[in-house]
Amino acid sequence: MEKISSNMKTILITGGTGFLGRNLAPALTGAFRVVLTGRNNKQNNYAQAVTGCEVIPMDVANIEAVRDAFTEVRPDFVIHAAATKFVDLAEKQPMECIDVNVTGSQNVARVAVEKQVEVVLGISTDKAAPPVRNTYGLSKAIMERIFCSMNSKAQTRFACVRYGNVAWSTGSVLPIWKQMHEKDGVIRSTGPEMRRFFFTVDEAVKLVLTALENIEAIQGKVLSRYMKAAQIADLLNTWIENKGGSWERIEGRPGERNDEFLIGEIELPFTTELIYDGITHYLISFNEKVPKPLTVGLSSANTTRLSPSEMADLIDDARE
Ligand SMILES: NC(=O)c1ccc[n+]([C@@H]2O[C@H](COP(=O)([O-])OP(=O)(O)OC[C@H]3O[C@@H](n4cnc5c(N)ncnc54)[C@H](OP(=O)(O)O)[C@@H]3O)[C@@H](O)[C@H]2O)c1
Repeated sequence: MEKISSNMKTILITGGTGFLGRNLAPALTGAFRVVLTGRNNKQNNYAQAVTGCEVIPMDVANIEAVRDAFTEVRPDFVIHAAATKFVDLAEKQPMECIDVNVTGSQNVARVAVEKQVEVVLGISTDKAAPPVRNTYGLSKAIMERIFCSMNSKAQTRFACVRYGNVAWSTGSVLPIWKQMHEKDGVIRSTGPEMRRFFFTVDEAVKLVLTALENIEAIQGKVLSRYMKAAQIADLLNTWIENKGGSWERIEGRPGERNDEFLIGEIELPFTTELIYDGITHYLISFNEKVPKPLTVGLSSANTTRLSPSEMADLIDDARE
């Protein structure tokens, strides 16, 4: 992170005590004063201990708490990673999901403008790409639109990044499989036939850094990047080959679907392809057709499959 490091500015990461925040903080420390926020004090203390960053409690669903935190921290940059992200929970408790992911994002956007924050970057998901299948995806699709729309209304530059599954992130398949494997050697999977985009947390961190470094070019838009995918059965088989044990199918959860989309069909006229650091990225705008649109959408069904060795590397890349 060198391009924007001339003056030590303050960067606040909402939900920075979570998996992404804890892994992003070290990449920003040195160039920025990094402040992480979260609600749960046990997790706040843990994040403080592992990152060495300042951590303060803040509930994004409460605008006064957001205002208090921004008054205290005076951030120049905000990375908005706070979210409730479990698809099945959001189907059962949609109100909580909307409070955190939609109202919380609105609160962050409103207070950022009020406090003249320079840049706000929202962290979105492939589940926000059309066709949206679940409440979590809808809530993140709204966050994307709130942020992209706010960009033209104030000095603050807003943008989002959108990506698929981060290996070893909180509550994702690999840590869950690890727990099951340690318990009785049997991994129970809800969707061996499903295909999912996967990359490492280092790649997620890199996408965030790329977005910050190129904020002038991407403001008001969503930046995504090419990702490979794996069929869950292949990932399971790779796990078993490398670590032993067995797997079996169990009943699916609400809100799940076989494939995910990073760029949906209806987004094509609004999406440009660009290259950053030799990697194909996609810049998605809303309501603004682009001169050279993408011609084919990107889904976990039509992207490149992760090779057995790439899957083994993901499995071995266990992170806290
Ligand atoms: N992991 C993935 O595969 C993936 C893929 C695409 C996009 N994303 C997005 O990336 C972001 C980070 O994900 P992650 O994997 O780091 O998730 P995580 O480990 O679950 O972290 C989420 C963070 O948000 C905080 N949070 C939740 N509700 C909050 C609230 N009301 N107010 C303030 N903080 C709140 C949590 O702390 P407390 O509960 O203590 O508040 C935690 O620090 C999320 O926005 C997620 O949607 C993740």
